[in-house]
Amino acid sequence: MTDVSIAGERSAYESRPPPDDEVMDDQERTMKSMVTQQITTRAARPAGAPRWSALRAQMPAAKQWAYFDHAAVAPLSGPARSAIQLWSRDAADNGDVHWPEWSRRIEQVRRQSAALLGAQLDEIALVPNTTAGINLVAEGFPWQAGDNVVTFSDEFPSNRIPWQNLAARGVECRLVEPTGTAADLDRLLAACDTRTRIVSVSWVGYASGRRWDPARLAEAVHSRGALLFLDAIQGLGVFPLDVSTAGVDFLAADGHKWLLGPEGAGIAYVRRDHLDKLRPIGLGWNSVADEHDFSRPTWRVKPSAARYEGGTMNTGGFIGLGASLALLAGYDTTAIAERVINYTERLCEGLRKLDAVVVSDRSPSAASGIVLFEMPGRSPSMVRRSLLEAGVVVSVRTGKLRVSPHAYNNDADLDRFFDALLETT
Ligand SMILES: Cc1ncc(COP(=O)(O)O)c(C=O)c1O
Repeated sequence: MTDVSIAGERSAYESRPPPDDEVMDDQERTMKSMVTQQITTRAARPAGAPRWSALRAQMPAAKQWAYFDHAAVAPLSGPARSAIQLWSRDAADNGDVHWPEWSRRIEQVRRQSAALLGAQLDEIALVPNTTAGINLVAEGFPWQAGDNVVTFSDEFPSNRIPWQNLAARGVECRLVEPTGTAADLDRLLAACDTRTRIVSVSWVGYASGRRWDPARLAEAVHSRGALLFLDAIQGLGVFPLDVSTAGVDFLAADGHKWLLGPEGAGIAYVRRDHLDKLRPIGLGWNSVADEHDFSRPTWRVKPSAARYEGGTMNTGGFIGLGASLALLAGYDTTAIAERVINYTERLCEGLRKLDAVVVSDRSPSAASGIVLFEMPGRSPSMVRRSLLEAGVVVSVRTGKLRVSPHAYNNDADLDRFFDALLETT
């Protein structure tokens, strides 16, 4: 996780002529100072206790909002904003002149992603979103008619529909009804049989907040002779994960939630042993070795998971994601997890005092950054709207209120949440 740096971001723009101060507008001055702050944050690490206020200072939205909605769409980090602004200005001013540098920065994001996951570089594909990462396995797996895939019925649609879409190929998608208890793993396994090829589960449930231990899941799934797909979007950035030791086979996550990146720039992981099992889908110029030799009539796919990248990348998006990954890499993930759990615990305590019903399983092994709750007799959407008017951002999912704080939230945010909630009662 430490091999990431944003030296690339700096050098990309140091290679340009220094801007004339006369013509440097406020926006550019702000961007420059944000990039400098980002470098300072990285350099100041890691001795001593994490400085959460420094992380908060990198989150522009924190000035205005008590933002408790990272499970939906997180606010963009300041470094991501400035990196995207700098890139878009470069693209507008110079067209493709600096394209090789953009490409180098995208490769930097691949390295950052591999470091974040404990994966090898050749196991990472940079994808448009979680759905695309799930589909590259769902569509590329060597299914035989009569095979099945097992998942929970309360999964986010992107982790259900691609599997159900295999019905036309004779593959059954088995949906296990969760009870919200620890016994759910047994129920999941009970749904598996000798024709189960893949079990696909969200690391953290978007509408339950239930967190699974990926290593425990993988061990159980492997004991049934199946492979584990982990939809990691609600866990990555908050909880530590090492896919190689955990035994995860496939993983996908977009960067717009806990990774504080923009929408539409995501990460997929395919364990090296499985790369050649999957029929590569979405092939294009950027899937093949010698990708810049456009006139070559013969081709072979890249030996790495980059074969799934197909065509032109979302350059601005990945440059933004890279800046947020660099920011988060300045903090120990275990410390982020502890802080987020601490905040969600305090939210739950306060909610119970207000006679709210906390629906999420808050046992230590299942607690996550997502808490669902109900206010008896109150309309969740009305409560959400009142909170928003008071500057507090939460969601409603499956008829329940959902709060999802990040490590940069502070006590003032919590006070604002409870004050606003009291006002609404
Ligand atoms: C568990 C889970 N998977 C996937 C997604 C989003 O998928 P995508 O990145 O394809 O938009 C969400 C969004 O809320 C989610 O909660």
